[in-house]
Amino acid sequence: MRNILITGGCGFIGSNLAVSLSSQGHSITCFDNLARRGSEVLLNRIQAAGCRFVHGDIRCMEDLQRTSDSFDLIIECSAEPSVLVGTQGADASFMVNNNLIGSLNCFEIARQRRMAILFLSTSRIYPYDRLNRLTFSEEATRFGYADDSPGVSASGVTTDFPLNGARSLYGATKLASEIMLQEYSHSYNLPAIINRCGVIAGPWQLGKVDQGVFTFWLAQHYFGKELKYIGFGGKGKQVRDLLHIQDLVNLIEKQIARIEEFRGQVFNVGGSTCSSLSLQETTALCQKITGNKVNIDASPVDRPADIIWYVTDNGDTEATFQWKPERNPETILTDIFDWLHENEHTFTGLLKG
Ligand SMILES: NC(=O)c1ccc[n+]([C@@H]2O[C@H](COP(=O)([O-])OP(=O)(O)OC[C@H]3O[C@@H](n4cnc5c(N)ncnc54)[C@H](O)[C@@H]3O)[C@@H](O)[C@H]2O)c1
Repeated sequence: MRNILITGGCGFIGSNLAVSLSSQGHSITCFDNLARRGSEVLLNRIQAAGCRFVHGDIRCMEDLQRTSDSFDLIIECSAEPSVLVGTQGADASFMVNNNLIGSLNCFEIARQRRMAILFLSTSRIYPYDRLNRLTFSEEATRFGYADDSPGVSASGVTTDFPLNGARSLYGATKLASEIMLQEYSHSYNLPAIINRCGVIAGPWQLGKVDQGVFTFWLAQHYFGKELKYIGFGGKGKQVRDLLHIQDLVNLIEKQIARIEEFRGQVFNVGGSTCSSLSLQETTALCQKITGNKVNIDASPVDRPADIIWYVTDNGDTEATFQWKPERNPETILTDIFDWLHENEHTFTGLLKG
């Protein structure tokens, strides 16, 4: 049994982890500033599952120091996760303070208290301008990649993908945090794992256009709201892979059991090729699952930081942890539909865009 502090514990990933880890006998404390709209609803869920809650902000070291000093593991799940922040000229200070300085405070409290660290990073650390310069074929419903370049093949992007280039303020703050965590782990001999997650989806996600796109797309169909294919010709052929939150939770449970073996190793984590969808294909599945067809507009103009194709190559992660994603896109979207149907009263205001 571990005593675990989850920062961002009232967010989508943090709260799902908290509920699952608590049910397995771990002692869980969630730390969150409740900045994300809807996190107060997820707070009710984690408290009902027996988790403790500390209201605080990771930017403030005093808030972190107010927590108990008996934790043996911190899972850093808090972030401002939008890639659009800064793309329209807004200044970078909020993103840097929240995602980089905040994470550094978490690593520092872990150093002071000798805690292991599991950090939720993102595939957005891979530069979008490099990804978008790969050569793609245009197929009937999606863009396809069938070439081999350093760090990428038809099986997806590996952790060897070159890191030079623009990646969004979000991606940059996450990469900077990864680098600092590796230094902390090596300099202070702290067990640490970094998960570079692709798109995670599933129940309890308050999906928005700039974060949680698959949940957002399903919810727009559910509520009969309009959608738009943005960029890359406006055809909805851009591709991402998606991973069910429960598959991520299953992986993290395996990682926690062995975290003492790792010193800042980086793992790609995503749905992989067998769980990838274009927006067009997502529309077809959402129509099938909800029975609704919505109007979809097209805007051919590319939006900053958008990606034509990103699929996760999980090879190292699967081999290291004997883990594999188990749920396919139709199961993931159906689970979101069922959850939304059961909780429509609670989430209509939050998800009906
Ligand atoms: N959901 C995904 O698809 C995805 C993909 C890749 C990486 N990630 C990473 O996983 C982590 C969790 O993402 P999520 O989807 O659960 O996001 P989320 O927005 O649902 O949750 C983040 C939580 O952090 C809290 N928070 C934000 N700033 C804080 C601060 N300064 N102090 C304390 N709490 C703060 C928010 O209130 C929220 O509850 C993030 O680090 C994100 O970068 C998520």
